Amino acid sequence: MKIGVIGAGVMGKGVAQRFAQYGQEVVLYDIAPKVLDTAREDIKKSLKIASMFNKAIDVEGIISNIKVTSGYDELKDMDFIIENVNEDIKIKETVYRDLEKVCKEECIYMVNTSCIPITLIGSYTNRADKVIGVHFMNPVPMKNFAEVIKGCKTSKETIESIRSLLKGAGIEIEVVNDSAGFVSNRLSHLFMNEAAALVYEGVATAEQIDNVFKKAFGHKMGPLETADLIGVDTVLDSLKVLYDHYEDSKYRACPLMKQMVYAGFTGRKAGKGFYNY
Ligand SMILES: NC(=O)c1ccc[n+]([C@@H]2O[C@H](COP(=O)([O-])OP(=O)(O)OC[C@H]3O[C@@H](n4cnc5c(N)ncnc54)[C@H](O)[C@@H]3O)[C@@H](O)[C@H]2O)c1
Repeated sequence: MKIGVIGAGVMGKGVAQRFAQYGQEVVLYDIAPKVLDTAREDIKKSLKIASMFNKAIDVEGIISNIKVTSGYDELKDMDFIIENVNEDIKIKETVYRDLEKVCKEECIYMVNTSCIPITLIGSYTNRADKVIGVHFMNPVPMKNFAEVIKGCKTSKETIESIRSLLKGAGIEIEVVNDSAGFVSNRLSHLFMNEAAALVYEGVATAEQIDNVFKKAFGHKMGPLETADLIGVDTVLDSLKVLYDHYEDSKYRACPLMKQMVYAGFTGRKAGKGFYNY
């Protein structure tokens, strides 16, 4: 199987690594030359760390399964596309319209999105039956679960194809119907947003909030640690998608998150978010 991974940010690199580790040929594309320059090295670093815990990981062999490209032409033979560009409807629309010009008819588009409705993405293509949401969990090389979203027109064959592809990469799935934010993020974005509001109002510190959440409810991570891991900018983009879609004030983003994004405090990837790294 040939897999094209679009977007080499937090998720795209993780997805490329995961499938390469499971023996698939991956072509990784990003629009930003700076991102592409470091993508292979970043993945190599991540594999080297993983190999310290698992001697069976062949870093050089795995990395040789990943080809990095800055040209769409390389995507024409792909069986699957896994798209991981920013959580922005306009950016995703441009990508799908461009993919339609190069990808073969049988190619399945897997949309990695936090909140954007899959039926909407399908409408940007002439293959809505072959468009499916796959909400991977971060960090992808370590998380063995993905939430799969069936758009209104997604076919049974498409679901079965990606079920088998993901199973082959050690990923268990739960298939749900289309709804902006799906199951996981309709829930998680409410608690991350409310946790940010608690910091904003001075009710408690980030550490205290996360500690209460973990100790009280038995979660492994608190909401603000999670926001930093995802990227505060991505959480904010997702809240905007939810707010625009449902026109419901419960998804209105906490102003503190906007300030943090203006200041570049976007979480782990920036070295600073609700915590310092
Ligand atoms: N970060 C998470 O924890 C997480 C978890 C699940 C799903 N997601 C979703 O995955 C997607 C990607 O998120 P991320 O955290 O990796 O974002 P990111 O900001 O780390 O990376 C996005 C990448 O897309 C690239 N890009 C932008 N426009 C492009 C284009 N036209 N063509 C090709 N590449 C382009 C950017 O250069 C960047 O490298 C989003 O839709 C997000 O909601 C994120």
